[in-house]
Amino acid sequence: MNIAEQKRAAAAYAVEFVQSGMLIGLGTGTTSQHFVELLGERVRGGLNVVAVATSEATQAQAERAGIPLATLDEAPRLDLTVDGADEISPDLIAIKGGGGALLREKIVASASTVMVVIADESKWVDTLGRFPLPIEVVPFGLTPTRRAVEHAAAEIGCPASAVLRRTSEGHPFVTDGGHLILDLALGRIPEPQALAARLAEIPGVVEHGLFIGLVRRAVIAGPHGIRVEEA
Ligand code: 5RP
Repeated sequence: MNIAEQKRAAAAYAVEFVQSGMLIGLGTGTTSQHFVELLGERVRGGLNVVAVATSEATQAQAERAGIPLATLDEAPRLDLTVDGADEISPDLIAIKGGGGALLREKIVASASTVMVVIADESKWVDTLGRFPLPIEVVPFGLTPTRRAVEHAAAEIGCPASAVLRRTSEGHPFVTDGGHLILDLALGRIPEPQALAARLAEIPGVVEHGLFIGLVRRAVIAGPHGIRVEEA
């Protein structure tokens, strides 16, 4: 299986976790798109679920697929969220936010009894950090926030530049919540908990892409098949 086929296979495996009557969180990204498409097929076949989307893009796709949708205010507790990841390590800590949806993704994951990550094998890493860590920040005071983020990285022994994410047209990337993203290319994150704690102390940081203690199960699809990792 190539990477696209692996993403599809992980999504197809996870869609079988969905049972009638469930409230489902829908992730964001290309792997999640496969999941939404496959869930839509099941819904059109008679499966009874209600879903909450983690981004405007997923919301639009789910609407087109005919999946009944609710807000998190209407459905504050979800049974299952299925989402992709940019990296995931054997302790099931993930980096998310490559698609810029980390804030809503983390809120939805936190409101879910079970979060399942679906990913191709390239996302499985011994040590997190090769993928730049996305950090969602408020536009006000961007420069001191960026400096504080870089200071936090240096303090935990991983000096790095925090780079403002831009669109392909060169404009600052704006999240669904109207925030900006700083990408922190750390190389490796030996102590994700320590970094998460430091970032959470910075006033301009809305959320960071380290998902710690949230992922219950990871469905990893490789060239030769699927394996499931449990927390
Ligand atoms: C979006 C995310 C995605 O889940 C992550 O970027 C993985 O994306 P893909 O499935 O396209 O590889 O966190 O904010």
